[in-house]
Amino acid sequence: MAQPLTIEDLRILAKRRVPRMFYDYADSGAWTEGTYRANETDFAGIKLRQRVAVDMTNRTLASTMVGQPVAMPVALAPTGLTGMQHADGEILAARAASKAGVPFTLSTMSICSLEDIANHVGKPFWFQLYVMKDRDFIARLIQRAKAAGVTALVLTLDLQILGQRHKDIRNGLSAPPKPTIANLINLATKPRWCLGMLDTPRRSFGNIVGHAKGVGDLSSLSSWTAEQFDPALSWDDVKWIKDLWGGKLILKGILDPEDAEMAAKSGADALIVSNHGGRQLDGALSSIAALPAIVEQVGGRMEILFDGGIRSGQDVIKALALGAHGTFIGRAFLYGLGAMGEEGVTRCLDIIRKELDITMALCGLRDVRDVDGRILVKGRA
Ligand code: GLV
Repeated sequence: MAQPLTIEDLRILAKRRVPRMFYDYADSGAWTEGTYRANETDFAGIKLRQRVAVDMTNRTLASTMVGQPVAMPVALAPTGLTGMQHADGEILAARAASKAGVPFTLSTMSICSLEDIANHVGKPFWFQLYVMKDRDFIARLIQRAKAAGVTALVLTLDLQILGQRHKDIRNGLSAPPKPTIANLINLATKPRWCLGMLDTPRRSFGNIVGHAKGVGDLSSLSSWTAEQFDPALSWDDVKWIKDLWGGKLILKGILDPEDAEMAAKSGADALIVSNHGGRQLDGALSSIAALPAIVEQVGGRMEILFDGGIRSGQDVIKALALGAHGTFIGRAFLYGLGAMGEEGVTRCLDIIRKELDITMALCGLRDVRDVDGRILVKGRA
């Protein structure tokens, strides 16, 4: 392919280069994938106001997320198995994020560990936590995050039980892949990926292996989430984690104003309006459709962040216009990573930055912190 100019270009390249089970793992939603699709398509109905003959010089995208400076209000979301999209994927993505001046969030379900990121990137990063039944393990994981220099904890609340993604079952998703005939045939068509994997020791869940007790088949995401994740997670647990952590806390997976109210009362610093990329409750609202009611409920009382369906800088600005203070991208950077490693994540961030900057200018603004509902055509949001 000629130079990738859009996130869609990166997606096409990633699909070619990443083994099917890992590409499918990223590019899928729960059951009918209706919510997954709506996350993207609902952005299209929101229209921007084109302004002319206003000063568009000296523009800035610099902002903050949970009080920390960011070069643009776009963080890399926590995504599971990132080190299976490309060898050492989390290290590469964290490096690209740090060079671009945006936060990188390591998933609990990452391949590279907290310590790998601390040792190989050497810059502060964020960590996403899943709550497992083994509370000693959680307490130790939080201590490890502190020791690794993590500057914000993202506590995921919408995955007590794993949503069903049909492709993962059909593909027999596991990390590393099992040497079945179908997998071997598919891997034979992905030589770059295989060479990278042969060259790294990081091929399973780095935060868990050697740290958690009594975990059965760790290679199978669905069986170990079913065994280990706590379906009884409650707001009392959120308080326990908040006290144990003691730093900036972001609650991820809020889609309903009543839950947003609970999040505000919990004393967390921020929430992320999210439906887990359409991977959990199929039939739920898209994230962008859910955002305004949550802003109305708790805006001004806590920082509101957003993820779900962002594939362009235009999507970022629409989320900001509807009241998000900052955004996260998941699949968009995974496509870049699968397509071209660290360079692909850098490319993804460059594409989004440029689109955001030019879109903001054409809407008549020069400072991303000034973006609000006035840039939207009324009655179309
Ligand atoms: C895990 O976070 C997943 O959505 O697969």
